[in-house]
Amino acid sequence: MRIVCLPGDGVGPEVMASAREVLAILAPDLELEDHAFGGAAILAAGTPYPDETAAACLAADAVLLGAVGLPQFDAADIRPEQGLLAIREGLDVYANLRPARLGAVDLLVVRELVGGLYFGEKGTRADGTVFDTLEYHPDQVERIARRGFEIARGRRRRVCSVDKANVLETSRMWRRVVTEVAADYPDVELEHVLVDTAAMRLVTDPERFDVILTENTFGDILSDEASAITGGIGLAASASLTDDGPGIFEPVHGSAPDIAGRGIANPAAMLRSAALMLEHGLGRRAEAQRLEAAVDEALERARTADLGGHATMAEMTAAVLEAIGR
Ligand code: NAD
Ligand code: IPM
Ligand code: MN
Repeated sequence: MRIVCLPGDGVGPEVMASAREVLAILAPDLELEDHAFGGAAILAAGTPYPDETAAACLAADAVLLGAVGLPQFDAADIRPEQGLLAIREGLDVYANLRPARLGAVDLLVVRELVGGLYFGEKGTRADGTVFDTLEYHPDQVERIARRGFEIARGRRRRVCSVDKANVLETSRMWRRVVTEVAADYPDVELEHVLVDTAAMRLVTDPERFDVILTENTFGDILSDEASAITGGIGLAASASLTDDGPGIFEPVHGSAPDIAGRGIANPAAMLRSAALMLEHGLGRRAEAQRLEAAVDEALERARTADLGGHATMAEMTAAVLEAIGR
């Protein structure tokens, strides 16, 4: 099985090195190959998602991604994040799964990833007004809703669909389509919640949630919030899936320029993303579970600075390898 690794920027290459080390022991038959992506690719090739990288991703069994983004590009015309949007669109990975677990909390954000505000028309009018457009086609809503309900069937059978139907036309259509899809899943309970209320309940009653089904921008924000209430962004992993083709597996966090280069980034989010890749991308459930369990166990004995500890990334990686060996 061929895995394309896109280390990217900042702590991306650091946590990717940890994942490579662990996968080499856990799944030595996997062929991992690095390709240029993000700010590193802009510097080397003038574009964040070079054609050569895109071709390799399309031909791969899965894509493992570190993170992109560098402060030096903050005001630039060509930005690393454009590469991220291009690869998501190019692989049509519309279903972004972001699990968050801690104690009694066990929820999954199912985020629509290739539509909405991120991909609508943008521009500047003659009078200086700047705009981003929020658009959804009902088919885009239907396919992510079906994913959400299918996944809920393997969990606690509860879907909380999050929108802003009191204000947005797209949300009113979202609500209608999700309700129609729900008719095919009578065994799954559906609740519609406005996004502001959902943000509040995520803090006050997180254990009430099972599947949170939502559009691109709301999902971006709520998944960071979900990570914060379950141990922090250093632990949160994600899987971005399409119907037939390679998925992208990446941490929820970014390139963390404030801690990059110091060897103190938490590799757990990346390692959990590698576990999601083994499970959802490659159908290797047993190895995925071994890796999940090893990360959980390592977190009991080694904690990086973001978790209030003193362990380095290398020490955390060693703890995971030790747990795998046990
Ligand atoms: P960030 O997630 O990079 O960092 C937010 C905070 O979390 C920082 O204090 C950082 O040190 C900490 N943090 C993040 N990952 C960590 C880890 N593994 N271990 C320990 N601490 C960690 O978000 P930001 O600072 O808002 O964004 C920085 C850059 O990353 C921006 O250019 C942004 O666009 C980009 N970004 C990329 C992705 C991605 O590639 N998927 C995701 C989010 C942000
Ligand atoms: C994420 C990130 C990206 C997003 C950015 C970097 C484009 O924040 O994966 O959550 O908003 O989707
Ligand atoms: Mn985000």
